Amino acid sequence: METILITGGAGFIGSNFISYLFNETDFQGNVVNVDKLTYAGNLENLSHIVNDYPDRYRFEHVDICDRKQLDRIVEQYKIDIVCHFAAESHVDRSIVSPDAFIQTNIIGTYQLLECVKAHKEHVRLFHHVSTDEVYGSLHDQGYFTEETPYKPNSPYSASKASSDHLVRAYRKTYGLPITISNCSNNYGPYQFPEKLIPLMILNAIEGKSLPVYGDGQHIRDWLYVTDHCRAIWMILKARPIGKTYNIGGRCEKKNIDVVMAICNLIDHLMPMSEYKRKELINWVTDRPGHDRRYAIDCSRIEAELGWKPQESFESGIEKTIHWYLDHMEWVNRVRSGEYMAWIRQHYGH
Ligand code: NAD
Ligand code: TYD
Repeated sequence: METILITGGAGFIGSNFISYLFNETDFQGNVVNVDKLTYAGNLENLSHIVNDYPDRYRFEHVDICDRKQLDRIVEQYKIDIVCHFAAESHVDRSIVSPDAFIQTNIIGTYQLLECVKAHKEHVRLFHHVSTDEVYGSLHDQGYFTEETPYKPNSPYSASKASSDHLVRAYRKTYGLPITISNCSNNYGPYQFPEKLIPLMILNAIEGKSLPVYGDGQHIRDWLYVTDHCRAIWMILKARPIGKTYNIGGRCEKKNIDVVMAICNLIDHLMPMSEYKRKELINWVTDRPGHDRRYAIDCSRIEAELGWKPQESFESGIEKTIHWYLDHMEWVNRVRSGEYMAWIRQHYGH
């Protein structure tokens, strides 16, 4: 029976991945979720897993920079696979305060790699979850391939690029069994409401202003989170040691078009007689170093592993809006700080 150590499993993609693993795949093994529970980590995202799989799921409240704890966990649970999601993940926060990004994304990844190196005899795979932002910014033409040179522009993307390089180097130098995936922008349930899509959904529902940076013509390649989870699961199963895969939705959209789509859907679901949601759009000063366009060429993972995105933007955004409308208690808790009280009540720490 395999045991997978998942770092950052209480965050947006990590918690979706754990749910996907237990509920949508043939995985029969165990999961150990290692998470520091920063503002972005919420164990409530996994309460159904705790209830449904009490014998196969464990949570460890640990910082990935803490090497002693990592060693204990890898030995205690006899970890076979590490799937590394934990990171500081929001570009705007990295601009204001890069320190945590350097600590978690670079030092944390280094400590994990050292831990895996020390337990090479039983850890059979270290999968590193990364971003397309390491490649920098595209003009109107072209796509990021796995061969595109790294050119990160924000402290976030520079810290992720640095972690990717460490992972590659540990393969070349120490023979660690690694894989890497670089994915485009995700959206879906449980995303912390600071990223574009959940922020716009909630502000539009609540009649608050919708801050669009610069001219709103910046392009992102959107992928529904479950499609990302399926791609990672396919990599873990195939175990193509040493390989990197780009993952993307073939779904380029200008920010303003994403915001307009959200406004129109919410107008339809919750009509307001006084105004249309698009009137809430507020053009604000651009983000410094703002990347103009991201677009992924995902033909390698399509050809080699048979992966394809299944969700269209239209169906994915509608599901996501309904999810937020149905989970306003979750939203209020993660925004209010009440969450720590919830943790104490449910987990006693
Ligand atoms: P998130 O911010 O929602 O969650 C990050 C999780 O990591 C949280 O649970 C947090 O508590 C935990 N964490 C942070 N620092 C930690 C530490 N020092 N030790 C242990 N746990 C810690 O992030 P996300 O959006 O779910 O992203 C997950 C991964 O996917 C990241 O590595 C990110 O770079 C990558 N990624 C994200 C996207 C996206 O669109 N969100 C796209 C491509 C790649
Ligand atoms: P974001 O969700 O922060 O992801 P990333 O910067 O990692 O791509 O932002 C997505 C795009 O939306 C990006 O071009 C910045 C823009 N944006 C806004 O225009 N307004 C906002 O309030 C936010 C959070 C982002």
